[in-house]
Amino acid sequence: MKKILIVGNWKMNKTPSETEAFLKALLPIDFPSVESVICPPFTALVIAQQHLRYSGFLLGAQNMNAHDSGAFTGEISPLMLRELNVSYVILGHSERRTLFAEKDEDIRLKLISALEHGLIPILCVGETLEEREKGLTEEVITKQVHAALRDVPCPSSLVIAYEPVWAIGTGKTATSAEAEEVHTKIHTLLQGLYGMQSAFIRILYGGSMNPQNAEALLQEKHIDGGLIGGASLKAESFRELLTIAQRLS
Ligand code: 13P
Repeated sequence: MKKILIVGNWKMNKTPSETEAFLKALLPIDFPSVESVICPPFTALVIAQQHLRYSGFLLGAQNMNAHDSGAFTGEISPLMLRELNVSYVILGHSERRTLFAEKDEDIRLKLISALEHGLIPILCVGETLEEREKGLTEEVITKQVHAALRDVPCPSSLVIAYEPVWAIGTGKTATSAEAEEVHTKIHTLLQGLYGMQSAFIRILYGGSMNPQNAEALLQEKHIDGGLIGGASLKAESFRELLTIAQRLS
């Protein structure tokens, strides 16, 4: 059985000192059956790395450039992340797609680069409310998954996060049945691409996941964990989520 994966995406929240205060409040904790990841802003990676050492938590980044180095003002490369012991990198988050005009092909190149550098990509996909209401959810998800994985041989490690855009930061969660329906489709898509080898790929749900709704979501067959925004920002709610995941493991 796959370990439940719980990833906190802090987005543009917490300075280094706030990160330190959060981690002092959270740690030590011991959830041996859960894989736990925190993705702070770039500026807090160093302090987070220092505090997370020996904690059982892994570190993630929220984005990266596909290149190793060069004239890319304001960007962060996979080499820089690796040197800070970053294990995961979120790619193609809907906020990057809509607010920073990231295209499927940009995301594909980042994904290939992440894999080359031993980073585990967390590829985000999800439909908008308008797309859902028009019945386009499956089409949108299929296009996003196929575009990001085009010509990518079965990766040694990969996570997909289904994040319906209408559920992000809105307090509106997909019901566990709605989420499971899409997760099952993603599971089938991955089988189509990689056959039996796709079995290790975890599919996370993201979008207003919190301690109240996590249990129902995490009990679904194809929901392997959560990508959590708001509820990962407070030590108490993040701990509660990890406790639920541990109980279900
Ligand atoms: P919320 O949990 O705040 O809805 O954010 C979800 C998300 O975008 C995680 O990447």
